[in-house]
Amino acid sequence: MTTEHPGFVLWMTGLSGAGKTTIALELEKHLKARGIKFERLDGDVVRESLTRDLGFSAEDRRKNIERVTFVAKLLSRNGVGCVCSFISPYQSVRDHVRENTTNFLELFVDAPLDTVIARDVKGMYKKAIAGEIPNFTGISDPFEAPANPDIHVRTDQQTVAESTQIIIEALESRGFIPVISNQ
Ligand code: ADX
Repeated sequence: MTTEHPGFVLWMTGLSGAGKTTIALELEKHLKARGIKFERLDGDVVRESLTRDLGFSAEDRRKNIERVTFVAKLLSRNGVGCVCSFISPYQSVRDHVRENTTNFLELFVDAPLDTVIARDVKGMYKKAIAGEIPNFTGISDPFEAPANPDIHVRTDQQTVAESTQIIIEALESRGFIPVISNQ
């Protein structure tokens, strides 16, 4: 069974290892349980298909997000909730997504650089610091933190469940997903 709700774009931005995919997967469980029509778009996955020809120069990162925006635009205007997790380091590019999609919310998945370096889930920071991966976000490439995100979670201070709850409440308060009554 699916529930009637408007389409939306929940746009997660943050450093590699900040927890974007982890939170997106947790959110997916909640949205599924509530019968919400949604699609998850994730940088690591999209870069193996739709944007596999692209690298990590500023221009390629812009193209990466531009193509994802096209998909999110079609989905969100047709009543699908899109959960998008991309580093998307440039504010101007994120603003472009906002302007071109329906019910866009910028979600900053925030963890300090020293935290993500310490986590180093994929072992990429070690290589980037050693100079083995060029243009690595946070090490040798910029990350423009959102100045005024619609939602801000701190994964160094909150559990995955706490961050997810904050996001669900934000979606509910905007009417993008129905509120579940406990009575
Ligand atoms: S974005 O900048 O274009 O939005 P995207 O989210 O699609 O990036 O992809 C980021 C993922 O690509 C990272 O999680 C990491 O696994 C991988 N990656 C490989 N090279 C780099 C790099 N130079 N900078 C950042 N991430 C990289």
